[in-house]
Amino acid sequence: MTASASRAAEILSRPVTLGGLTVPNRIAMAPMTRMFSPGGVPGEDVVSYYARRAAAGVGLIVTEGTYVGHESAGQSDSVPRFHGDEQLAGWAKVAEAVHAAGGTIVPQLWHIGMVRNQGEPPFADAPAVGPSGLRIGADEPTGKAMTQADIDAVIGAFAEAAGAAERIGFDGVELHGAHGYLLDQFLWEGTNRRTDAYGGDRVARAKLSEEIVAAVRETVSADFPVIFRFSQWKQEAYRARLAETPEELESILAPLAAAGVDAFHASTRRYWVPEFDDSDLNLAGWTKKLTGKPTITVGSVGLDGTDFLKSFQGESAEVGDLDNLLDRFERDEFDMVAIGRALLQDPEWARKVLDGRFDELAPYSPAALKILS
Ligand SMILES: Cc1cc2nc3c(=O)[nH]c(=O)nc-3n(C[C@H](O)[C@H](O)[C@H](O)COP(=O)(O)O)c2cc1C
Repeated sequence: MTASASRAAEILSRPVTLGGLTVPNRIAMAPMTRMFSPGGVPGEDVVSYYARRAAAGVGLIVTEGTYVGHESAGQSDSVPRFHGDEQLAGWAKVAEAVHAAGGTIVPQLWHIGMVRNQGEPPFADAPAVGPSGLRIGADEPTGKAMTQADIDAVIGAFAEAAGAAERIGFDGVELHGAHGYLLDQFLWEGTNRRTDAYGGDRVARAKLSEEIVAAVRETVSADFPVIFRFSQWKQEAYRARLAETPEELESILAPLAAAGVDAFHASTRRYWVPEFDDSDLNLAGWTKKLTGKPTITVGSVGLDGTDFLKSFQGESAEVGDLDNLLDRFERDEFDMVAIGRALLQDPEWARKVLDGRFDELAPYSPAALKILS
């Protein structure tokens, strides 16, 4: 094994604690929507897709985004749902298989808000909802500005899904607060024009997320970890930012930490990009420094920096080295790393890295998006 390979094995194979959960190593699978669950039910192919990666050394699986039980939460009937008997029975099998393979697993709970277009059945008739009924980039509302009753229903849906996750054997939950979906639409001034308690400054815009975290916390056991994923960028506004300074970031994250978040998952597209001026820290690094909570970093790990959004347009990405990542781990900048495309491409990615078999890592090809294997 080369020096760099044995350093990777040594650093990444250390266990880590998130809330009451001990994860066997530092490697997480990033949440990735796959749309292979007809009727919202994860089937046997989804079970083996996740179990295969757990068996090959992924310490923590964060599932693809899965809709909470609110009529406007989703739009695709092939995205798995986290409500309904059949759907939850499918998920229970996923959790069981991942545990049998030695891994841990959390579902990513998702409400898409104003990203919703005309839905497929059973979502066809529900309105798109959001803080102000605005799509990203639009000035005029095309959807419904949520009433207090809508807000209460969404909070209840997240809490219920988290309760179900604990009941059917998951190890925690991740709340999807990133990428321009519902929670992020509240966090971002571009889509949140409310003048009530849920709009205004950053603290007010974080209120919905804060209340969801608190409701989830109240529903699940005290040691059941709650992870919150957030991002500066939005799916339809890559340059958008929630915070321009560490102080602004802290005003969003501190209430969430106080409400009961155990770990943050700071979504960036390239983990080596400094988040603010005058420091090399990335978004996960700043989040850990500001909140004191464990954090997960992500973004082009093991790849050359070809953006994952370009992957959807058919671009490949070459293998990249892990030296910068390992330096940051050694400085204790963050606690875990999530791997997206590299793990789609190669279910054995984590095992190869933990064994120091770097020469066996393959470039990412977008053909991996088309199959579930
Ligand atoms: C096919 C695909 C689907 C994705 N779906 C989700 C999702 O459901 N939820 C989420 O938070 N991020 C999603 N992402 C973003 C990934 O979690 C990750 O942040 C991104 O791919 C960057 O990591 P990478 O460079 O290692 O691929 C998705 C990415 C890909 C490639």
